[in-house]
Amino acid sequence: MSELLKHLKPGITQETRLEKIHNVIFDNSKIGSKAVAREIADLIKYKQSKNQKCILSLATGSSPIIVYEELINIHKKEGLSFKNVITFNLDEYFPIEKDDLLSYNHFMSYHLFDHIDIPKENINIPRGNVSSKDIYSYCNEYEKKINNLGGLDFQLLGIGRTGHIGFNEPGSNKNSVTRLVSLDFITKEDAAGDFNGIDNVPDKAITMGVDTIMRAKRIVLLAWGHKKSEKVAKSI
Ligand code: GLP
Repeated sequence: MSELLKHLKPGITQETRLEKIHNVIFDNSKIGSKAVAREIADLIKYKQSKNQKCILSLATGSSPIIVYEELINIHKKEGLSFKNVITFNLDEYFPIEKDDLLSYNHFMSYHLFDHIDIPKENINIPRGNVSSKDIYSYCNEYEKKINNLGGLDFQLLGIGRTGHIGFNEPGSNKNSVTRLVSLDFITKEDAAGDFNGIDNVPDKAITMGVDTIMRAKRIVLLAWGHKKSEKVAKSI
């Protein structure tokens, strides 16, 4: 049983009894990330034993990087195969080219996909270069593809400074699905370092919606360090 699963039924304490979202605190991000990677690896293996596809939805940002490193380790050291895995990514800047070094497409290849045996055709990341007139149908197709596969088995999430998940800024409708959104100024400010100035950060993004995310069979949100604590406490 993974470390994370062991924590699923904690004793009810004075601190946890008012929580609406179950939360686990780790001594550091490495220990937490290892527990999450182990849970994902166990899920992939369970699905393999049933001859089923494992539908993972993945996140970018700094928070999941160690989880991806751990998954690569498990692939290399323990032979975990990703051949039965189909991935969807939460979001992508818009507009941006697929091979742009700042695209989430590039991020995922660099941090995970280039190091495991996942078939390329099993990788789904929103395209940041769809023509404006096709965006609506493109987003619908993305959503439909997830639904046709029976939905997401596991959703990995981070949380932004505004409290956004994917690129769903506060105020996003709980029924929202994959769509084109405008980025909050604070979110652009946080990306400014990577883009060499806020003026170079795209104004928009394609993101899965709150409903798309909430329909996942299991959701794990990673938030490391004191900077995230206030937002996490508020969410819980
Ligand atoms: C971006 C991503 C989010 C991510 C957030 C937090 O905005 N679109 O999915 O959760 O960054 O990033 P970090 O993990 O670096 O704090």
